[in-house]
Amino acid sequence: MQPGPCSKVSTPMHIRNILVTNALPFANGPIHLGHMLGYIQADIWVRFQRMQGHTVHYVCADDTHGTAIMLSAEKVGISPEQFIEGVRLEHHRDFQRFLVDFDIYHSTHSEENRELATDIYLRIRTAGKIAMRKISQLFDPERGLFLADRFIKGQCPKCKAEDQYGDNCEVCASTYAATDLINPRSTISGAAPVLKDSEHYFFKLPDFADMLKEWTRSGVLAVSVANKLSEWLQSGLQEWDISRDAPYFGFEIPGAPGKYFYVWLDAPIGYMASFRKLCAEKGLDFGAYWNEGASTELWHFIGKDIVNFHALFWPAMLEIAGYRKPTQISVNGFLTVNSQKMSKSRGTFIMADTYFRHLNPEYLRYYFAAKLGQNPDDLDLNFEDFTLRVNADLVGKVVNIASRCAGFINKNFDGMLSATDSQPVLTAEFQRAAAEIAEHYDAREYGKAMRQIMALADKANAWIAEKQPWAVSKTAPQSKEVQDICSVGINLFRLLMIYLKPVLPQMAQQVEAFLQVPALHWAQASTTLGSHRIGTFIPLMTRVDPASITAMLDASKSSLAVPVPAEVALLSPLAKEPIAAEIEFPDFAKVDLRVVKILHAEHVEGADKLLKLTLDLGADDKGQTVQRTVFSGIKSAYQPQDLIGKHTVLVANLKARKMKFGWSEGMILAAGDGKDIFLIAPHEGAVPGTRVT
Ligand code: MSP
Ligand code: ZN
Repeated sequence: MQPGPCSKVSTPMHIRNILVTNALPFANGPIHLGHMLGYIQADIWVRFQRMQGHTVHYVCADDTHGTAIMLSAEKVGISPEQFIEGVRLEHHRDFQRFLVDFDIYHSTHSEENRELATDIYLRIRTAGKIAMRKISQLFDPERGLFLADRFIKGQCPKCKAEDQYGDNCEVCASTYAATDLINPRSTISGAAPVLKDSEHYFFKLPDFADMLKEWTRSGVLAVSVANKLSEWLQSGLQEWDISRDAPYFGFEIPGAPGKYFYVWLDAPIGYMASFRKLCAEKGLDFGAYWNEGASTELWHFIGKDIVNFHALFWPAMLEIAGYRKPTQISVNGFLTVNSQKMSKSRGTFIMADTYFRHLNPEYLRYYFAAKLGQNPDDLDLNFEDFTLRVNADLVGKVVNIASRCAGFINKNFDGMLSATDSQPVLTAEFQRAAAEIAEHYDAREYGKAMRQIMALADKANAWIAEKQPWAVSKTAPQSKEVQDICSVGINLFRLLMIYLKPVLPQMAQQVEAFLQVPALHWAQASTTLGSHRIGTFIPLMTRVDPASITAMLDASKSSLAVPVPAEVALLSPLAKEPIAAEIEFPDFAKVDLRVVKILHAEHVEGADKLLKLTLDLGADDKGQTVQRTVFSGIKSAYQPQDLIGKHTVLVANLKARKMKFGWSEGMILAAGDGKDIFLIAPHEGAVPGTRVT
């Protein structure tokens, strides 16, 4: 790589050491596009800072505690530990798919978190900041647990609407106490709740009011967020109830048997716990990022609904426990889809997994970036606008520059770029923009950065259109002029890709392969490629296909059809049972699967799960029908007479097993989650004996 005409002498840089956290998603449902907004926002910032040469540790985890998660696990019949591990893996997979590149994705239900939460609580208690008093709460006498408002439903005391939650009415919008509901019912058991006393532990938040008034105004928050907090601070802070009674999935409070930390107490401590695990893995210094007076930076990226936890409770906890406070709390607004709140019935409640099956995650990263600023404004995902913008900007402008120029360089110059830059003034303009674009990224004004980058892309395209390499190439295909024009084009494209890399890391990687250069860094914007051989052009991004959007919205609607409680419906089989260890093809090929026809099926006396099946495995080389007898545990799902004549799949080379009721010669395939059973069947027309591969 040659220094370009404009390469500056870089001033020695101050290396920032930054710990970045993203809000820890609750482990009771899948990641949706609304969540993704804040994670993509943080990931772009992290990638940008790393490209600048700063040291960034980026941590996250699942937020796993609480009653809802405990009940969800119970419903699917697994332990909360198994449940949250399944969800954690699924969440992490979704983030990886959207190129959100955490250094660690841990869990709040971890030893690190238990130790830290216990220790911090003890420090708070020792400092005299814990109060205890009895409170009276609604209790489900059947299930033996205290009920949070969202687990109580009844008739609205104002408008008498049925089926309203314990804190507010969705019909008349009035708010009230759960005890005011008419004919209240526990949504868990249906029982009528009763009032019951219990001792609770409170964090004395009001003692921190002065500190918080000052701290929230110290530049750690967007002004609009600080203003909102001022309203709360002016109206007076309440003591914060940090305990919950057993049964509760969480950590027991030391010295208080049967009492657990409220999920929101140990959730932010989960940031520390994740980082502690990362420190153990990588040999990093935990104290350098968390001790009081640390010179490093601590950035929290969160959504606007959880500001009070992060900007009031959390700094107060940190202060009294002797830790440093955050450098900055970056707050994102909420995502709307087609100008409305995400809605299941409109199909706009889109899961990350559903999006991923239909569309490229980098489209969404770019779209969010193009509309994000540092203020917590709501952001609308409008699919028409999305399609237009991605197609016009990324495909029509950016990729177009490379695709217009690369062919000539590949074909006529054996991939070789000109030795010198024929347009130093134009190149210099692109290079000068690096500083301002960097400022926008650093200030989380991605929208401004994207606009500037696209203005440059317009300029590059206009310049190429004016030079018309395709026309010159017709008369003089191997002329220096063609090589120079296209080399300038490729170099301008390279600069734009440096600027876009935080947003489009995957495309940038493809570009690095195409240009045959090592990983692009920000500082390389002061250089250009001369006498450098590039690879053949590969299509870098295809246009958004509107049919894919329709298909995605349809899929989002149809996922509604599942008539199970939300929390359970949201937990996929994959989350419950992650994919088994990888095997080699020869291992798979050992299994001989054959189509069979069920000739006969009958109950087996004394067996409550088994059916006895007689199978037709096709004819042997003498034309004789080969039959097999197998015992199959599908009785709960099928009546014998319904199976006769059906086709299914048999593991034909499974060693026969002697069972209590006779020999089973193989095994037929069925999908099952322990509850439902679905026999696997080939499409119509498959004949017995055909191998399944
Ligand atoms: N578990 C808590 C956070 C604990 S942090 C110590 C939580 N979890 S969440 O799953 O409900 O939300 C995770 C993040 O996604 C939060 O930052 C939240 O604000 C954000 N969002 C959830 N729905 C959102 C939208 N519709 N739009 C934008 N952000 C949204 O809160
Ligand atoms: Zn009402």
